[in-house]
Amino acid sequence: MVYSKIIGTGAYVPARIVKNDELSKMVETNDEWITSRTGIKERRISIGERTYQIAAKAATEAIKNAGIDKKDIDMIILATITPDFFMPSTANLVQAELGLEDIPSFDIAAGCTGFVYGLQIADQFIKSKQSKTILVIGAEVLSKVTDWSDRNTCVLFGDGAGAVVLKSSNQEGIICTYTGSQGDLQESLTLPAVPLKNPFLQVQNNNGKPNHISMCGKEVFQFATRIMIKSISQVLNKSNLLIDDIDYIIPHQANIRIIDHVARELKVERQRFIINLDRFGNTSSASIPLALDEAHKKKIFCPGNRVIMVAFGGGLTWGAALSNWTM
Ligand code: ACO
Repeated sequence: MVYSKIIGTGAYVPARIVKNDELSKMVETNDEWITSRTGIKERRISIGERTYQIAAKAATEAIKNAGIDKKDIDMIILATITPDFFMPSTANLVQAELGLEDIPSFDIAAGCTGFVYGLQIADQFIKSKQSKTILVIGAEVLSKVTDWSDRNTCVLFGDGAGAVVLKSSNQEGIICTYTGSQGDLQESLTLPAVPLKNPFLQVQNNNGKPNHISMCGKEVFQFATRIMIKSISQVLNKSNLLIDDIDYIIPHQANIRIIDHVARELKVERQRFIINLDRFGNTSSASIPLALDEAHKKKIFCPGNRVIMVAFGGGLTWGAALSNWTM
């Protein structure tokens, strides 16, 4: 039986720290509101670094941490909602940046669930023996699509990248994955692309929405709590495990109150949740690999631990991956 397992992690965040107090000079907000409603104290913001550049830095660290030759990488899957171009994909740019040749590389867009979708795809490629060593990256420069005049959203987001190397093994790493989506809820969380405009339109469309994230916070909040619990239950049921069999949960880092709610509902102590949103905010598809890498560097996980990664995001999308920790 062939399994896939994580053999290396890496992360990169821009150096520029923006604390809540700095935002309170830009919009009508304050540290007390942001901290109590979200748990976020500061975030990293790109000062010129592009999505592919921070992705390549995280990937380079993951390859080093895995102790492999980069030439062993036979696929790159990159999750992002903030690509540098429609074409080429950000994964293609990372491939060039890393100096890798002749391997497939592609982006996936599944909102903040992108990294979990990426893990699921990579796991399938490895289990079907079409690939052996895959880089899965989540990278975002959300600051370029944030409306910095909207206090409802600008306090939430940050920039960063995280990556893992997934390798084929006869030892079970990833136990199971689960993903879902519901497109009819799209309006609650959107980031428009370019508006439809061409010389052949009967009515010229000059009012395309700006390329900013807009969100109905309350709707997303309610959806997030419900769907994270469902996603965790799904991977537990699929693998015949109970929540007490799980050592750690790495949730999408959106809001501490969402995580607290999930912890209470599942009756899981908060210490078993890996949390770093206080320092990085919501980095969308980078949030789980960033938290995973930090926990790994702090030696929080031991070989034999079971870890669930669980996310929700624009789409709306959701998903979870349950893995043995083997490093
Ligand atoms: N500072 C001060 N006041 C604010 C701010 C702010 N930054 N933002 C909103 N307010 C005000 C509102 O205007 C409102 O004022 P009003 O009562 O006078 O109208 C009041 O605070 C309460 O606003 P709510 O929206 O009810 O605040 P809520 O407690 O719901 O918190 C929040 C808002 C933090 C956005 C919450 O709804 C949330 O976290 N939702 C989920 C968001 C999320 O998880 N997004 C993740 C997906 S996005 C992605 O990952 C790309």
